[in-house]
Amino acid sequence: METENYFPKDFLWGASMSAFQSEGAIADDGRKLSVADIRIKKMNQQFHTTDTSTATDFYHRYKEDIKLMAECGLRSFRFSFSWSRIFPDGNGKVNKKGVQFYDNVIDELIKYNIKPIVTLLHFDLPQSLIDQYQGFYSRESIQDFLNYAKFCFNHFGDRIPYWLTINEQDVLANIPFFNGLDNLSQSIQASHHMNIANALTMKLYHSLDLKGKIGPCLSYPTRYPASTDPRDQFLAMNLDDLGIFYLIDTLIYGKYPAYYINHLKSKGIMFKTKKEDSSLLKNVKPDFLAINWYTSEVVGQYLDDSQVDDYQGPELPRQNRSEKGVAQYYKNPYTEYGDYNWNIDGVGLRLALRKIYERYHLPLMITENGLALKEKIDHGKIHDQKRIKYLNQMIQSMSLAIKDGVKLFSYNPWSFTDVLSSSQGMDKRYGLVFIDRTNTDLKVLKRIPKDSFYWYQKCIHENGSI
Ligand code: BG6
Repeated sequence: METENYFPKDFLWGASMSAFQSEGAIADDGRKLSVADIRIKKMNQQFHTTDTSTATDFYHRYKEDIKLMAECGLRSFRFSFSWSRIFPDGNGKVNKKGVQFYDNVIDELIKYNIKPIVTLLHFDLPQSLIDQYQGFYSRESIQDFLNYAKFCFNHFGDRIPYWLTINEQDVLANIPFFNGLDNLSQSIQASHHMNIANALTMKLYHSLDLKGKIGPCLSYPTRYPASTDPRDQFLAMNLDDLGIFYLIDTLIYGKYPAYYINHLKSKGIMFKTKKEDSSLLKNVKPDFLAINWYTSEVVGQYLDDSQVDDYQGPELPRQNRSEKGVAQYYKNPYTEYGDYNWNIDGVGLRLALRKIYERYHLPLMITENGLALKEKIDHGKIHDQKRIKYLNQMIQSMSLAIKDGVKLFSYNPWSFTDVLSSSQGMDKRYGLVFIDRTNTDLKVLKRIPKDSFYWYQKCIHENGSI
């Protein structure tokens, strides 16, 4: 079905990945471990998935992958630097070989006219910073992040048009172990420090004579109230506010909303501040907002204590589950679901784009969006029709959001190649390119473009006319 096309000619069609989920080579050329390496190793021991040691071997195969990106027609590539590859201890001495690797990746992208979009921190804080002072729980992390960012801006800045500060701080605030921490009160304190780090990093970037842009990167699922019961309506709004909007408000307006502070107080959690914090947080002007959007959720009041499953994080199926004392989540009968019970809801994306744009009036970039499937090679090919359906809906919705007036300028679906899932090993595949390995058998890590790769190639070639 052909839809009206509102994409501007210079729209940045891209794709997305992150360091710990693709690079492997975790102990090569001076790199030291990150919290992601430790966390995923533990999960591997418990659930028999795999670890980060090889992932997709992007470290050694970036040229092959970037060549495929060029073949697909990508105009941008969103990836992250591994902080512990550049500063193995998080602070102290810079690792020249790590820097060289990112120089090579950037130059290779530029060779094909693909714009690098770089995330400074994507779930992989250097473990050494946890050992030194408990990472972002401590205030010292702010200066270390700033030094790391400053080095990156000075060294790579002339070649990077878009920087993202911290990937999904909203997730890090709620799931302590993704940031190497143990409990919620630590991660809430850490989130305050990340807010200051974010603010100072953006101010620092804007004080330098560089031509690129910088912004934060948050994740957002569109939330529908389960019924017209006013209490469900309130709950959906409240989860939005406490999930993401309090953070963007703080980053943009430099002040925590009252409802957030009172919510923490009611939970008996409060972060420590210093007198200067409110001025540190003020006067930050992100150039854009980067949004990771995958799915929508149906939420209703928490009803039944007896039906509580053991909720452990957002990676669990988003249907018929509950979060104790907070909410029930329901399956949405109007939308189709992928193999991991995340749904396909293009309208939900349009809704999110409108809501976020009208609230902040900042240009938007989609830095993650995709559907996880279980896949097998079928006579040398991967027929991922459901993913094509998903991408099709998303792209139609983006076009309509642009027609509505949303300033959306880049789309980077997750993920370019299959990558190691942040929590469920290699079987959970999101890629446009299949990586032929399993959790237990690395095989030869052959790259095989899926049907969705060719579909997206055509879509980019037609600038979004699908
Ligand atoms: C996002 C993360 O939250 O979701 C990615 O930024 C992650 O790192 C993606 O891979 C999908 O989640 P998962 O757990 O299925 O890998």
